[in-house]
Amino acid sequence: MTIATTKSALQAEGVSVWFGERKVLEDVNLVFPSNQVTALIGPSGCGKSTFIRTLNRMHELIPGAGLAGSIYLDGEDIYGENVDAVNVRIKVGMVFQKPNPFPTMSIKDNILSGLRLSGRKIENAEELVETSLRRASIWNEVKDRLGDQALSLSGGQQQRLCIARSLAMNPEVLLMDEPCSALDPGSTRRIEETIIELSQSMTIVIVTHNMQQAQRVSNQTAFFLAEENTPGGVVEFGATEQIFHGPVDQRTNDYVNGHFG
Ligand SMILES: Nc1ncnc2c1ncn2[C@@H]1O[C@H](COP(=O)(O)OP(=O)(O)OP(=O)(O)O)[C@@H](O)[C@H]1O
Ligand SMILES: [Mg+2]
Repeated sequence: MTIATTKSALQAEGVSVWFGERKVLEDVNLVFPSNQVTALIGPSGCGKSTFIRTLNRMHELIPGAGLAGSIYLDGEDIYGENVDAVNVRIKVGMVFQKPNPFPTMSIKDNILSGLRLSGRKIENAEELVETSLRRASIWNEVKDRLGDQALSLSGGQQQRLCIARSLAMNPEVLLMDEPCSALDPGSTRRIEETIIELSQSMTIVIVTHNMQQAQRVSNQTAFFLAEENTPGGVVEFGATEQIFHGPVDQRTNDYVNGHFG
């Protein structure tokens, strides 16, 4: 896979992050082109989750969280004065490490929950439920049990339900923070296929500790690192092929070849 010269859907410019007095990220500059998958890799604690949360303003929900820099979505700074954070989170959806469906809510109601919570009108609920579940590659498994509780699904199915729930909001960007780390290889493969399929129509940013996964699903990769007593940052950013097979920085080379982290 190569980096296409499509327009950038999302762009981080000079992003630094603090928790209280402690600076954990310094000067991150990344461009996320439309219809591309970007993988964020790096050792534990280097700031990947922190960074991905700045991309849809989830970061500011954490007490003591500070931020400098800008995030542009279609050219507009999502931290701009008149921008509504809730609206940003609708355009930039997020899927977490641990599947978090509303457990006692039905499969169908999970899909519709975001729209209901945001007070949006639902034109054709049946169709939206089906389309969302299809896009998340779980329709065939649940079509006959849409009224069952989300808890009745396996972990892998719950994660695809969460992806479907995000898709129901019709986001432009989907952020995924280690979406497969709690899943078996079969569920992981299905989610990877879903990611590749979805990237035809949206921009995806995925955090992963799985080097094979990064190579399977992503077009470009950013390697994050926090060296001792310094904030995290991006060491190297480029086409996934280059990062894994021709890294420029020795630290990238050591990390992608499993020498540390
Ligand atoms: N809510 C918080 N309050 C204070 N410090 C935090 C908070 N969340 C994260 N940090 C700190 O910020 C740094 C980056 O953490 P983050 O969770 O972003 O790392 P990560 O790269 O996602 O790690 P992992 O691969 O283990 O998920 C760490 O030093 C962490 O201790
Ligand atoms: Mg993390």
